[in-house]
Amino acid sequence: MTMKQSKLKSTGKATLIYENKSFELPTFVGSEGPAVVDIRKLYGDADIFTYDPGFTSTASCESDITFIDGEKGILLYRGYPIDQLAEHSTFLEVCYLLLHGELPNKEQFAKFDHSITMHTMVHEQLASFFRGFRRDAHPMAVMCGVVGALSAFYHDSTDINDPRQREVASHRLIAKMPTIAAMAYKYTVGQPFVYPLNSLGYTENFLRMTFAVPAEEYKVNPILAKALDTIFILHADHEQNASTSTVRLSGSSGANPFACIAAGIACLWGPAHGGANEAALKMLEQIGSVDKIPEFIKRAKDPNDDFRLMGFGHRVYKNYDPRAKAMQVQAHAVLEETGHQNDPLLKVAMELERIALQDEYFVSKKLYPNIDFYSGITLRALGFPTSMFTALFALARTVGWIAQWGEMIEDPAQKIGRPRQIYTGAQRRDYVPLGKR
Ligand code: SDX
Repeated sequence: MTMKQSKLKSTGKATLIYENKSFELPTFVGSEGPAVVDIRKLYGDADIFTYDPGFTSTASCESDITFIDGEKGILLYRGYPIDQLAEHSTFLEVCYLLLHGELPNKEQFAKFDHSITMHTMVHEQLASFFRGFRRDAHPMAVMCGVVGALSAFYHDSTDINDPRQREVASHRLIAKMPTIAAMAYKYTVGQPFVYPLNSLGYTENFLRMTFAVPAEEYKVNPILAKALDTIFILHADHEQNASTSTVRLSGSSGANPFACIAAGIACLWGPAHGGANEAALKMLEQIGSVDKIPEFIKRAKDPNDDFRLMGFGHRVYKNYDPRAKAMQVQAHAVLEETGHQNDPLLKVAMELERIALQDEYFVSKKLYPNIDFYSGITLRALGFPTSMFTALFALARTVGWIAQWGEMIEDPAQKIGRPRQIYTGAQRRDYVPLGKR
């Protein structure tokens, strides 16, 4: 198996003084971003753990894939700035870049495009899985179940130690997510599943599988297809976010890639993470009009009110999420093309952003719009129901998850993830028989 070579550069040592003893810990830097203190030997040497709930100051791995500078609002996929990729690239080209580390030449892209295209159909028996769900099942519940079930159909690409099987599983997942997401939507609206059409591009194919009906010709709108393709690029990867860390942790036990991606889908569903696009649109609908904004801003600032401005704030970005800017451009393009340029929710969103960016509370806590703030308005104008928003996020993020999973498998430093804890429960005590309690 081709193993990843570490590129960490030593910068000397950090010294920890604890109980009048000093412990030297090696320090390293990568190519960008903060240095790290290597604490792998700390527990063995000093018999103490580090404590970092939420991992706000903890690097879980060494990665070449995506770099984020939260203070400067920078996002690079394999070194390429997200705004340049959004403007000049396509989602499938970005998939190749994230998987292989370089932009493909014509021949490499043609081969990759062909392989993905040849994997777009799902096993016909998988269609019966959908019939087990209620029609009103949330598409993310369906995606979790069906993607996890793929490991029951593709035994020939679950050996994680075989690079060829890892490549086939990666291509299968990238290719089949649009088909499965479209089927999840079709099932909830009671329309027949639409098979992939290999003459169409990746995102055009997805739009047709989602919105075409057998009763009439479906013509893909190229402007909308391009906008959705760009939205997929913006969602493709984001270093060690919660769902990617879930995929890596699942993969560290040797679980097959389909099960790991299903775990990532489950984690992404949460409203604090990928579910925020659905929650942000619901929040805008709840606000309803520009004159109601001050009341909701007040609630968002009230520590006793659990209301938060969904689509605002980020664990890493303490500046404007560069994806939110690009999303806003797509929002205007789609609303224009679909005749929703006067969508009242767009006015609410832009006024809410304007007020929040001037408000001391949000400025002091460095809360800016994130990628989810404008995506809901855009996806709704594209015709997707709110319940499909996070499923679209999962579709796009699958390439990031699987690229990070592959990098983890090839990293000799990786072992099964097993965090420790600080125990604060009852100390040892003897059992008390019922009659004596
Ligand atoms: C995504 O990690 C990633 O990369 C994720 C993602 C990706 O591509 O994978 O970028 C995708 O998940 C984007 C984030 C989508 N989530 C939301 O929009 C939900 C609303 N945002 C928050 O829940 C929150 O901002 C988080 C969860 C995103 C970040 O939480 P943190 O870093 O743990 O920050 P925090 O919750 O500790 O907030 C810091 C302070 C707190 O106030 P204090 O306790 O310090 O007084 O800011 C406040 C919070 O109360 N705050 C907000 C707020 N977000 C944080 N106050 C009002 N509205 C908000 N949205």
